[in-house]
Amino acid sequence: MYNSKIAGLGFYVPEHVVTNDDLSKVIDTSDEWIQERTGIMERRYVEGDEDTTTTMGVKAARIAIERSGIDKDEIDFIVFATLSPDYYFPGPGVLVQRDLGLRTVGAVDVRNQCSGFVYGISLADQYIKTGMYKNILVIGSELHSKGLDMTTRGRGVSVIFGDGAGAAVLTREENPEKGILSSHLHSEGQHAEELSLIAPGMGKRWVLDILKDNDPEDTSYYPYMNGQFVFKNAVVRFSEVIMEGLTKNHLQPSDIDMLIPHQANLRISQFIQKKFGLSDDQVYNNIMKYGNTTAASIPIALTEAWEKGKIKDGDLVVLAAFGSGFTWGSVIIRW
Ligand code: UT7
Repeated sequence: MYNSKIAGLGFYVPEHVVTNDDLSKVIDTSDEWIQERTGIMERRYVEGDEDTTTTMGVKAARIAIERSGIDKDEIDFIVFATLSPDYYFPGPGVLVQRDLGLRTVGAVDVRNQCSGFVYGISLADQYIKTGMYKNILVIGSELHSKGLDMTTRGRGVSVIFGDGAGAAVLTREENPEKGILSSHLHSEGQHAEELSLIAPGMGKRWVLDILKDNDPEDTSYYPYMNGQFVFKNAVVRFSEVIMEGLTKNHLQPSDIDMLIPHQANLRISQFIQKKFGLSDDQVYNNIMKYGNTTAASIPIALTEAWEKGKIKDGDLVVLAAFGSGFTWGSVIIRW
């Protein structure tokens, strides 16, 4: 058995900045409300056809591959996490294989929303552990802006999300004390509809049903979130799954050098920080600049923290996520 480690990181966000004041011009909201409840000051939106979930993922991946020092022809597998794929099918993993000109390696798409990158890293880690693959590209990318209800009706959800992508190249680590030490994954489908987008889906409402009804009040194709319920579950599950990872490795919260929480809401991150008694230097947040980018939020934040020199060799880095499903998870890394 081997360990895996992150050999290269990259992220990409569209240039177009959308401030809270910009949103206030189309939605009945305010900079004050958004900042107070979420910490978000601005987010990025793709303009026109300049990018898709896949092209953003490819841009982030190119940087991660370059920084890893691993030739793209040495990549053995692709994992792509998103809730906003370019097509209903096929998923974006194969589009990355094509656009990056990779060998005909396997590609899998992860549908775990905010926990998607954590699930993706865990999946890649298992393949590397067993020796089946040596180098794996893991991408988290989201294009939310085209699918939000930009009316006052949708304001509770729409002000939160932003577009962007992050990527990591995982490679084999021979030292058992370094790299990914463990990952911990959970789900609770009982609450599936509390944070969901049910149409189009073959289950309840397909595209043809939407077209047939032609109902201007139809909200089934917009994301729905029971915000307070999700918030309450998030703070509990984040705490549990971080502790689960630390306990498994005989570590304590004070051992954490850098916690990268999924950027769901700054208030959630602050709650966790306080609960574990962590300093500002031990937690990285950038939701203020990018909003909630679901599967992309952890790789964007991880890359930015690394670029700023906040993650050093030997550091204990913890990734943690919670979101739609509900799904949640953590990854414990010795850098
Ligand atoms: O990433 C996946 C996981 N996601 C999360 O963890 C998100 C968890 N939830 C949250 O972050 C928060 O619940 C939200 C930020 C989404 C909402 O904050 P909240 O404090 O739970 O607000 P609320 O939905 O309870 O709404 C409070 C009030 C309502 O007005 P009334 O009924 O009190 O008059 C809303 O209509 O705020 C109103 N409101 C807004 N007002 C201005 C809701 N959205 C907005 C808005 N601007 N954008």
